[in-house]
Amino acid sequence: MSDRIKHLSIVSSIILVLALFLKRNYDLKLTERLMHVHDGLIRAEQKIQLQHRTKVGVGFGGCHDAFLPALEAWKGLQLTPSNELVHHNLINNKTELEQLFNYFFYHGAAVERYVKNPEFFKEIVSFAKSYADTRWHVGGNAPVMAQRLAMEGSDVLLGARKSPNVLFGDNVKGIGDQDEDDVHVILEYDKNEVWGNITTPRANRLIVHSDQYNPMLNMIEEFEVELKKFQPRLFVLGGLQMMDNFPFEEGVRSSRFLVLQNFLSAMPTSTLIHFEMASFAEEDLVHELIDKVLPYADSLGMNEQELPNILAVLNKKPVQLVADSNPRVVTALDDIRELFRAVGNLNGSRRLTRVHVHTLAYQAVVTVKGSPWKNTMSAAAKSALVANRHVCGNSTINLEKARIILDESFRSSRIEGSERIFLKDERPVSCWEENDMLFCVAPNLVCTHIFQTGGGGDNISAAGLSLQIVD
Ligand SMILES: *[C@@H]1O[C@H](CO)[C@@H](O)[C@H](O)[C@H]1NC(C)=O
Ligand SMILES: *[C@@H]1O[C@H](CO)[C@@H](O)[C@H](O)[C@H]1NC(C)=O
Ligand SMILES: *[C@@H]1O[C@H](CO)[C@@H](O)[C@H](O)[C@H]1NC(C)=O
Ligand SMILES: *[C@@H]1O[C@H](CO)[C@@H](O)[C@H](O)[C@H]1NC(C)=O
Ligand SMILES: *[C@@H]1O[C@H](CO)[C@@H](O)[C@H](O)[C@H]1NC(C)=O
Repeated sequence: MSDRIKHLSIVSSIILVLALFLKRNYDLKLTERLMHVHDGLIRAEQKIQLQHRTKVGVGFGGCHDAFLPALEAWKGLQLTPSNELVHHNLINNKTELEQLFNYFFYHGAAVERYVKNPEFFKEIVSFAKSYADTRWHVGGNAPVMAQRLAMEGSDVLLGARKSPNVLFGDNVKGIGDQDEDDVHVILEYDKNEVWGNITTPRANRLIVHSDQYNPMLNMIEEFEVELKKFQPRLFVLGGLQMMDNFPFEEGVRSSRFLVLQNFLSAMPTSTLIHFEMASFAEEDLVHELIDKVLPYADSLGMNEQELPNILAVLNKKPVQLVADSNPRVVTALDDIRELFRAVGNLNGSRRLTRVHVHTLAYQAVVTVKGSPWKNTMSAAAKSALVANRHVCGNSTINLEKARIILDESFRSSRIEGSERIFLKDERPVSCWEENDMLFCVAPNLVCTHIFQTGGGGDNISAAGLSLQIVD
């Protein structure tokens, strides 16, 4: 070996050793950071101790959820990849199901659609029943939020009927009974799964249903009577996406919305109202929400898709079917400010004083100072923790299955001269005041070994709410 080559190989060995050392150091730093953030979030969560149980009403509807891997279901249903990205408002057959899936799978965006053909829906459900690894749970936004709130120390009255599958746990009461219930099939996929020539950028799910009971909100009247006696501190409204693209007879949906509006407007101000958004594709329905629901909301909860969608329609633009599946904090914060402005301009009897946006990377909770919402910082921390607990399927967080994907700093607004906020690992929830508002952003410990994604938003939102109604 010539001296020159020997020299070079010594240099490259040194570089290699140095690189390994740096890499190890970097990994150690990441692990350390994860530990600090985790401990900080847990401290923030545990800061709030329940003094007594609070009463919460939750509406509407319930169903039986079947969770299974989307790609296995497509195999079972003998779908073949078309590589065509086509949006459909509702689904008539296999072709439309496959094209719709492609559309959202490509964006990694959550979606929920009505299957119009009952025979085709039966075929999907019977596959779910025959597939050995299908997990069955009590489902529907309302029952999931109800159970989570009960788990976190509330006494809950749920606006759903008991059925053989929708049984309620301790501290959750329902209204009446029903023999049969609606089934929702939740088709899940993981990040980087491949269908045809499409690779999905993040884990998510497509939900299909063919509900007969829930879209009619057929339990409102009965529930209203019970709720008056119950006198809850909070009423949580969700599940209205069941009305999206449902083939109502002429005028029926509007009349059900009027009943809902009267129900909300008659509620005493001693009961706060939270509305949990969902995936809405039908523009007229979103207008109904804006006219008849949003003006009565004290609080709104939504994910990264639902926020730009409602803003678009509030700004007189068409519904926005898909958005960035991992938006930057600054985008969400500016959108939240705009949401407060736009909803503030609606004519209603209540003022919006709380918004919670849950995304893959972080939780943003914004409240108006002096409003009844307490413990905003701890609420953001708790929802970040529940996001991991839910998706990983374990109430103990395993840091080997968690990752922080939020940047180490973010701007609080795109407006010139806005502050840059730096994450502090030991106090991971960043909170600051702006005029009469309190902003809190918590980094998620993103689960890397997915157990389930469906129902995540409901658990996360309800967990956040549970700490905000504690004295
Ligand atoms: C996927 O296939 C479709 C239809 O064959 C084609 O139009 C599209 O360009 C392909 N996309 C990629 C990324 O290969
Ligand atoms: C699926 O349904 C749509 C709408 O009814 C129809 O136009 C299309 O031809 C159907 N496709 C198949 C393969 O049945
Ligand atoms: C609110 O009410 C005022 C006065 O009645 C009316 O001028 C305005 O257009 C209404 N705004 C909305 C968004 O409905
Ligand atoms: C979310 O809610 C569902 C239904 O109540 C429950 O089965 C699941 O365990 C919850 N997730 C967590 C993290 O508790
Ligand atoms: C949950 O996590 C704990 C601690 O890491 C572990 O011992 C337990 O087996 C996990 N449970 C499940 C269901 O994975």
